[in-house]
Order: sequence, then C-alpha cells, then structure tokens
Amino acid sequence: MPAATVVDVVDQPSTLRLVTERELPQWLATQSAALQNWLPRSGFKPEHGRWLALPIESGSRTVLVGAGEALSDPAQLLWLGAGLGDRLPPGDYALENEFADARDEIIATGWTLGSYRFNRYRKSAGNALPRLRRPGAASGDTLAAMHAGTWLARDLINTPANDMGPAELEAAARAVAEQGGGELQVTRGSLLTTGFPLVAAVGQGSPREPRLLDLRFRKPGAPKVTLVGKGVCFDTGGLDIKPAAGMLLMKKDMGGAACALGVARALRLLAVPVDLRVLIPAVENSVDGASFRPGDVWRSRKGLTVEIGNTDAEGRLVLADALHAAGEDSPDLLIDFATLTGAARIALGPELPPVFGGDPQLVASLVQQGAAVADPLWPMPLWNGYEDELSSRIADLNNAPSSGLAGSITAALFLRRFVADPARWLHLDVYGWNPRDRPGRPAGAEAHGVRAVTAWLRQKFG
Ligand code: BES
Ligand code: MN
Ligand code: ZN
Repeated sequence: MPAATVVDVVDQPSTLRLVTERELPQWLATQSAALQNWLPRSGFKPEHGRWLALPIESGSRTVLVGAGEALSDPAQLLWLGAGLGDRLPPGDYALENEFADARDEIIATGWTLGSYRFNRYRKSAGNALPRLRRPGAASGDTLAAMHAGTWLARDLINTPANDMGPAELEAAARAVAEQGGGELQVTRGSLLTTGFPLVAAVGQGSPREPRLLDLRFRKPGAPKVTLVGKGVCFDTGGLDIKPAAGMLLMKKDMGGAACALGVARALRLLAVPVDLRVLIPAVENSVDGASFRPGDVWRSRKGLTVEIGNTDAEGRLVLADALHAAGEDSPDLLIDFATLTGAARIALGPELPPVFGGDPQLVASLVQQGAAVADPLWPMPLWNGYEDELSSRIADLNNAPSSGLAGSITAALFLRRFVADPARWLHLDVYGWNPRDRPGRPAGAEAHGVRAVTAWLRQKFG
C-alpha cells in the first residue's frame, strides 16, 4: 500500500480555492487588479474539476479549482477530490475553505482514491503524488480504513489469475486475519467434498485445489455479521466455455471475495464491535476432463439437489453452500458480494451494483448510505413471479434458467433458496471493474460496495 496522500502535517501547502460558477465573479472582485486583468484571459472556466495555478503574487501559491454549478452531491465532491489527488502536480496542498462538515471527509476520500495505482508488474514505481492536508472534519481513521479496504480489494482483483488462484486468495485472507486479530480456517480435500459439495464440484476441474475460507474475528455477545464473497479466481465458463471476449476479464471473478475482504479489513481498522465472519469459496472454474458437466446433478450442503443447466452459472453454486453454512450460525446480518451475472451489468451498467434483500427497508437503508458516501447501489426485486425459472425436471433446482431474462434477479432467487433468513440478508451483484479510465476510477478493478457497506455497518453497530 503506498503512503497515504492525505496527511496531517504538510509544509507550506499551496492553497486550493474551490469556486462555483456563481462565486467566481465575486471572488475575483476581491483580488488584485493584475489578477482581475489576467484571469479572464487565461481561458479558465470554473467547470467541475478544472483547475488553474494562479501566478504567485504574495509568495503563496493558489490553485483555483472549478466546482461547477454547485458541490451539493457527495459524488460531485468525491470525484472532484479524486481528480485533484490524481492529477495535480506533486507537492503539498490545503483547502482554503474547509467545509467543517461531512463534505471534508468525502473530498479527502476522493483525493486518496485518485492516488490509486496498480504498479505490481511495472518497473517504475510511478510518479510522485500530490498530498492534501487533512481537512479538519475528515477523520484520519476513517480515511485510513476506507483507503486500506479499497486498496486491498482493487489490488486483489487487478492481480492476474496466474498470481491469484485459490491458494493466493487464501494467503490474502490469512493476511487480513492476522492484521485484524482473527483466525482463518480452511476446508479442502475430502472435507470439502462432503461439507461443501458444490464448491468442490465447481473446482474439481482445476489443478489449483478448491477450498472454503472461513475467517473469524470473534466478539462474543456482539451482533453477528457474516460476509460471503464469490471467490472464482478465474471463470472460463467450464465445459460451457465462454467465448474469448467474455473470458478476457474473468480474473475479476473473485471480485466478491475481494470486496468482502476489503470490508473486513476496514471494519477491523475501525474496530467496529461486531462478531465478524467472512466465508469465501475459493475455486477456479476450468475446462478439463475432471470438470463438472452440464446435466450433472449435485447435492448441495443444504441437501437440495441442483441440476447443472450451465457450468458457467458457477457462482451461485459455490455461494449456495457458503450461504447455507453462514446460516447455520444464525447471523444477525448476512451480506454477500459476487460478480454473479452479466445481466446485472446489462440492467444497471458497470458503476451501479444491484442490491437485493428480503427486507426492503434494510435494502433502502444500505442504498441511502451508499449514496451518502458516493459508493452507489441500486435496489432490485426478489421477484417471486420468476421463481419457476429455477425449476428442474429431475432435481430440486436448476442453476441456469432457460429464458435468460432477468438474469440478475433469477440468480438472486437461486441464492435465496440457500439463505436461512432472507429478511437479514443482502446480496450485492457487483461488477468489480471500471471499463473506462477516470480520475479515482482508473480502468481496472473497482471495490464496489466496500465503502458503502463499511460505513453502513459502522453506523448500525459502531
Ligand atoms: N462471472 C460470470 C458473470 C459475469 C460475467 C460478471 C461478465 C461480470 C461480467 C458468471 O459466472 C456467469 O458466467 N454468469 C452467467 C450465468 C448464465 C450462464 C446463467 C451469465 O451471466 O451469463
Ligand atoms: Mn460463469
Ligand atoms: Zn463467474
């Protein structure tokens, strides 16, 4: 993890003056005649995210930052901060007018997001980054926790599958356990086959041994929160193999696991008092003579049998056993993250993960938190009318609905069959990826939902 770019002590910072389109003329009227003369001819417009270093007049450097029409929305603030943290010349900066409210934390969070780089496979360590003096109302602990959780999730997702198989995902989980004072229990081999038969079935075609990671940070008496993350380290589709274009990004199919670990890391740094458990089925969905097959019928941990309509619908299989195991512990809250369906991206695009849950109020409250921290989520229905899509002629369930419609919903309905108490369950169908390059959101991994869920759990239980 690189050094934080929001710091408590800076040396002679340049001043960042945020101005909206409306404020600019008033502000300029208070400046020197020379500046009043120069600025209009500089071509500067106070559009959101534009900036201009002013000529030094009195020894201190000021950078004028366009704030557009207003900075009312958390997302506007976050991405403004990200653009500055990403692109300003290296050096130290401070806000001239801190907000002294929640906005300070959002802009500073954006600044740190703007500093994300994935340099593991590059010779050069990258350029120096600008640093921001931490605004007064931004908690350093919160910034550090969100930074750590987001970085962890993004780094795990960005790491290619040759360096991020089930064993490496296990090592990452072990590191999170050790850093946060937890324990990791790993189930493999014959115990996996008997205890988590669907996880074993999906992983049996890979030479990289499938496993179930069970991470616990025990706190007896505290609310029990269990996170589940889809840890498919590479998804070829299995025997129902994906075409090249569909397979290209499938190193990110452990994105749910990465996000769950990111939340766990952040919650531990913030010492949120919950009895925390993280379950990760870690597998590779490979093409091999030993692979599970279309048409197979497998008995799940819960006892329900599943006919394999499509080996590419593997995420719901590995999650089924993990969700059922989670329920055996009766958690107060069960949250899963999964790069589960292409249909979620068709419905809402790459930056708005659907969230499902049996209690609409619980869903709404998480959605609201997501908006407040500019890590947006959108509610989607567990539409009972589509339940029959899960039916099979010879087994209790089929993993691949034949209609192909409402794929994100039918996948969520499949998961619900394995959840002990759907009213205490939330399911995030995350994309885990930014297709476009933008400040704070470079093309590549995205830690969808990590800040939203962390902030929400902290608010609920902290
Ligand atoms: N990992 C994919 C889903 C996915 C694909 C997420 C592309 C993000 C981008 C998942 O395992 C999968 O292949 N799902 C199939 C399910 C279908 C076979 C019922 C899908 O969505 O097409
Ligand atoms: Mn798949
Ligand atoms: Zn998958």
